[in-house]
Amino acid sequence: MDKIVIHGGVPLEGEIQINGAKNAALLIQCAALLGEGKTTLRHVPRLSDVRTMGRLLERLGCQVGGDRTLSIDPAGVASGALEAPYELVKTMRASVTVMGPLLARYGRARVSLPGGCAIGARPIDQHLKGLAALGAEIELRHGYVELRAKKLRGSAVMFDMPTVGGTQNVMMAATLAKGTSRLENVAREPEVQELARFLNKMGAKISGAGTPVIEVEGVESLRGIDHAVVPDRIEAGTIAIAAAVTGGDVLLRDAPVDDMHAVIAKLQEASVVCTVMPHGLRVQAPPTLGSVDATTRPYPGFPTDMQAQLMVLATQSHGQSIITETIFENRFMHVPELQRMGADVHVNGNTAAVRGPTPLSGTTVMATDLRASASLVLAGLVAEGPTEIRRVYHLDRGYESIEKRLRPLGARIERFHGAPG
Ligand code: UD1
Repeated sequence: MDKIVIHGGVPLEGEIQINGAKNAALLIQCAALLGEGKTTLRHVPRLSDVRTMGRLLERLGCQVGGDRTLSIDPAGVASGALEAPYELVKTMRASVTVMGPLLARYGRARVSLPGGCAIGARPIDQHLKGLAALGAEIELRHGYVELRAKKLRGSAVMFDMPTVGGTQNVMMAATLAKGTSRLENVAREPEVQELARFLNKMGAKISGAGTPVIEVEGVESLRGIDHAVVPDRIEAGTIAIAAAVTGGDVLLRDAPVDDMHAVIAKLQEASVVCTVMPHGLRVQAPPTLGSVDATTRPYPGFPTDMQAQLMVLATQSHGQSIITETIFENRFMHVPELQRMGADVHVNGNTAAVRGPTPLSGTTVMATDLRASASLVLAGLVAEGPTEIRRVYHLDRGYESIEKRLRPLGARIERFHGAPG
């Protein structure tokens, strides 16, 4: 297993090109199943989750090739097993979003139930409810969801909560249904909008993505296309906080500023200077960081995927910050590790009170999930003495070679192979 060692205390300075968005890329990879002919995806980040999705598509019979520019040809899927096995779904929950495309285009799918995950239970009942409304027959057997439908029919679906994956799964299924579907209380995240743009380019008729109601007029077929993935708002937000907490000044090239309003607003509340430039976002640390309260909410609210990183900023801010997590039930696993580094954090239910500024001191810490790992990198960048981060595979799911990305900005960060687990 790899470990990352950081010697903190260096202000990050310079420019960084923001990579393609993980969560958009993964769903577009799934959506390629719907197209007749090959799809080419550009600006795909080199991440283990993207490779896992590639492996799943290959298992389903797709020809998958390339790196950074990916090609996906689903010609062989029709004669395959149409099954997403447990070994792959358990490593990446987003695998369940092959259900919608497989069912819509091939009439059946067998997908392992994902089970719980480090940050919470994360059920898929809303995905199944939506697919059932479109006419799928669904059975749960031997830990798998088995779905069948000769032809899906357009229908009304009212989601109980705005789920990103659920919205995407059902939206993809509805593209090839007979008639029109009206999906209500849907997620409005930029990755839902990006998927809708991609599907429309393939020939789908989707309107309303980015609002609480999406309408999908079913079409007979979709075609494979060429598409460039949008930049990653979470990678951009994470590096913005890295600049802010180290007293730095960084230009985030191609940062998707319009998708980052909630994060930029919180940075500004903490007195960080954020300047929208023609080609990105410049982030300059203030002499003194102010405290900041934040509650995670569905988009356009503050993203849960930035909560752990914001907490590191709060440890360096003057005064008390209150951070509340409302999306996932177990998403404070970074707290004990940050406390071991000297952070003053008190958790009560889903609320964390953070007092700052506290000097952090480097030690050995354990990554527990993707964004928690990112917060440990940020903490390492401000800590005095070396910080050794174990279980880096969590980080590699969502951040491409973080050490190679941050070193040109001045960070003293290195990866070592073969560390203990
Ligand atoms: C996606 C993102 C993830 C992000 C999350 C919330 C991808 C690949 N992952 O995950 O990075 O943290 O959105 O922004 O895009 N829920 C149910 N039943 C369901 C579906 C969801 O109860 O059928 C609940 C979940 O447990 C959670 C909430 O709804 O509490 C939101 O989850 P959801 O938006 O579905 O997250 P994901 O799509 O899994």
